Amino acid sequence: MKGWTRRQFFLTSLASGLAAAAGRVLGAPEAQAFQGTGGVPQGKRPLMVASANGLRALDRGMAILQQGGDTLDAVLATVNLVEDDPNDTSVGYGGLPNEDGVVELDASVMHGPTRRAGAVASLREIKNPSRVARLVMERTDHVLLVGPGALRFAEAHGFERQNLLTERARTAWLAWKESMSDRDSWGPGLDSPEWRERTARLLPAGLSEPEREEWLAWIREVILHPPTGTINCLAVDSRGNLSGTTTTSGLAWKIAGRVGDSPLIGAGLYVDNDVGAAGSTGRGEECIKVNGAHTVVEMMRQGKTPTEACLEALHRVARNYGNDRTRLRRFHLLFYALNKDGVHGGASLWGATRGGRPRQYAIHDGTAARLVDCAALLEGAEA
Ligand code: GLY
Repeated sequence: MKGWTRRQFFLTSLASGLAAAAGRVLGAPEAQAFQGTGGVPQGKRPLMVASANGLRALDRGMAILQQGGDTLDAVLATVNLVEDDPNDTSVGYGGLPNEDGVVELDASVMHGPTRRAGAVASLREIKNPSRVARLVMERTDHVLLVGPGALRFAEAHGFERQNLLTERARTAWLAWKESMSDRDSWGPGLDSPEWRERTARLLPAGLSEPEREEWLAWIREVILHPPTGTINCLAVDSRGNLSGTTTTSGLAWKIAGRVGDSPLIGAGLYVDNDVGAAGSTGRGEECIKVNGAHTVVEMMRQGKTPTEACLEALHRVARNYGNDRTRLRRFHLLFYALNKDGVHGGASLWGATRGGRPRQYAIHDGTAARLVDCAALLEGAEA
């Protein structure tokens, strides 16, 4: 078989991506008819909301609320499980690294009852940035610490440094690095065999054939579509007190020092104990430009439902691109919201994942954690 250069591989992939995005439709997007929240009763307290990757961890947070615990303890207990999980490659330990192969984490917290906030950005070697963000809130007169200063602060509070780059994430980063250019010295030279064989050689020995196939398919996916995973978690207790947190390893292969929406109060997270809470996952740059979570909370203050409020923020994102679906297809963005009465909502820029599954978010209403469909601003999926 004819060998592929890295550039051929990249351009071929790009061409198919552009073909998939060819259905250009002009004009203002209309929100898709929302099918409801899957029969889940609305307006129940206590209640927790999370991005879909928080589903299995919500039991832990809800147990805290049911014992009368604080909403900030509940959301942090939830996301700490995901930060510790090496298999979630968008958060904490095991998160995909920056372009230098270094994992840099961002996180924020807001505590409704005391109206305080804390955050860290570009934090290295500490797997629970959300816990450090809480300490910034509780043990400093600041709101946001970044980079080496945030690391020194974490160490001062007893956090231990560790290598956050798992074998799986390191292998994906190396494959990405080698796929970027024919004009640098990364990877075998011009006489290299095809990409698939080269990447397969990066994998550790001892994997079964299905494991190798799964690993290779995942690497291909994260090279072509660098993830912006993230977990957001919001909680309201039986008295109507709210808290939230957002934590992430950010955009895979980002330039070192890039900060997304997650640690920015008002963008990836906002809580107003009089109104409600909101958060975001997906492409942080777009969320920052519309001050997303703050916009959602302000829309709820003006009387919109949580779902309507999320859709309004997404409308503003679409407007920033003149509602050009071809460019909007290049990313995804989701908002999650919870009001003081325990009414929840979530909305996604695109209704489906690239694999065709509906975009969903997780809730726990005290009986069980479950996934519910997001409302969608646009029909279809990102490219
Ligand atoms: N929303 C996560 C990020 O863009 O970093």
